[in-house]
Amino acid sequence: MSLDGYVAGPNDDMSFLEHVTGDESIIDRYVEETGAIIAGRRSYDAYAEDPSMKPYGGSWSGRQFVLTHHPEDARPVEGWTVLGGTLAQAVDTALDAARGKAVEIHSANIASQAIDAGLVDEIHVHIAPVILGQGVRFFDRPGPGPQVLLERVGAARPSDEVDLIFTPRR
Ligand SMILES: NC(=O)c1ccc[n+]([C@@H]2O[C@H](COP(=O)([O-])OP(=O)(O)OC[C@H]3O[C@@H](n4cnc5c(N)ncnc54)[C@H](OP(=O)(O)O)[C@@H]3O)[C@@H](O)[C@H]2O)c1
Repeated sequence: MSLDGYVAGPNDDMSFLEHVTGDESIIDRYVEETGAIIAGRRSYDAYAEDPSMKPYGGSWSGRQFVLTHHPEDARPVEGWTVLGGTLAQAVDTALDAARGKAVEIHSANIASQAIDAGLVDEIHVHIAPVILGQGVRFFDRPGPGPQVLLERVGAARPSDEVDLIFTPRR
């Protein structure tokens, strides 16, 4: 996420991630601890355009799911399963597939809904040293919603205070 709260710039530009520096061992940790990934349809369509794009640069293997209201027109992509049900059903399916490992939601849009639905245990935030000014927000609602209280439960890298882990208060 940029310092001003965007996960992509205008036109879904992700080039700002080049400015992220630091300890690469965090990637190893996510690769090891993650059993399944849920993505949104816009990100999936980008994967369909460029099959060389892989989560964690190709170092991760596991089950990948895309959630869409229109599964019928999703282009098949090797390694991905298209889901057309509800978000709660998608989370159940991904948890089964993850076999005890974590399910990561790689979608700002779906993560926001999952937080509101109480389906998220942890929010990991990695702040890139850049101000984008506009783009796709990390957390966005179409209208007013309840305040979500969080508790900071850790730092992904103990020595680096800008990579933060939160849990929703229940
Ligand atoms: N910085 C990062 O770490 C990071 C990580 C991931 C993605 N991104 C970037 O963020 C941008 C995309 O973000 P986004 O959040 O706007 O799009 P997205 O999550 O990729 O896709 C949103 C789409 O997912 C489907 N969807 C969402 N909720 C659903 C639900 N409850 N049930 C069924 N389908 C549902 C809908 O597709 P349908 O219209 O087909 O129903 C919706 O239009 C891209 O630029 C991507 O590269 C950044």
